[in-house]
Amino acid sequence: MPVDLFSDAEDAYKGASSMQEGRIIKTFQANGVDTTFRWPCAADLDAFIEMHRTLTREEVMCRRLELDRDSGRMMFEDIVHDLSQDKLGYILVEQDGRLVGEGFTNSSGYQYFTVGLALIDRARGMGIGTALMWALEEESRRLGARRLFLSVWSANPSAIHVYEKVGYNECGRRSRWVQMDDGSECDMIDMVKLDI
Ligand SMILES: CC(C)(COP(=O)(O)OP(=O)(O)OC[C@H]1O[C@@H](n2cnc3c(N)ncnc32)[C@H](O)[C@@H]1OP(=O)(O)O)[C@@H](O)C(=O)NCCC(=O)NCCS
Repeated sequence: MPVDLFSDAEDAYKGASSMQEGRIIKTFQANGVDTTFRWPCAADLDAFIEMHRTLTREEVMCRRLELDRDSGRMMFEDIVHDLSQDKLGYILVEQDGRLVGEGFTNSSGYQYFTVGLALIDRARGMGIGTALMWALEEESRRLGARRLFLSVWSANPSAIHVYEKVGYNECGRRSRWVQMDDGSECDMIDMVKLDI
């Protein structure tokens, strides 16, 4: 009998009593395209997996998740669970009904949170990353954060620019930490934003 992958995600989702399915955080126009920041809903599972496959195919300079249906469902359920427990802030970016990116802010339990985000290629360069950083900061504050942390490759100047623009400063650097796809190396830069 075939396994209904969605039913597990839906069950996990129903368990998340404090969550409001797909709650809209912000809607705006980015280069004339309707853009929405929102919480996930159970029906997002397939699109969530497809978005991560796209990010991996595009060789983004951050985490790349090789998700199949099982690992994708598990990851999605973990996100939904942690979101419902206020251990995680998680924002999906939707344009014209398609998921084009995500951002997260992960609680340490000690008032500092780790932030990350990624957009698929066609959604970049139109201000969404900057807006998403502000939205993640707001989510972090809601969850009790006082300090924010992130890591970024030195070979990712547009990301570094965005982080500096919204108030992060370099606090450390791991020299030649990352081996990139072409075999060359770059640094891993740690950045913080204090007293948010
Ligand atoms: C990094 C990322 C989130 C930024 O989001 P975005 O929507 O493209 O960013 P924005 O459009 O808000 O801003 C981009 C800024 O970078 C600037 N920029 C673009 N190329 C640049 C470069 N080579 N050097 C410096 N700045 C650059 C733009 O001018 C713009 O700044 P401005 O608004 O002050 O003019 C997005 O590009 C992305 O998802 N990349 C792939 C995944 C990734 O790298 N994630 C971060 C891992 S740490």
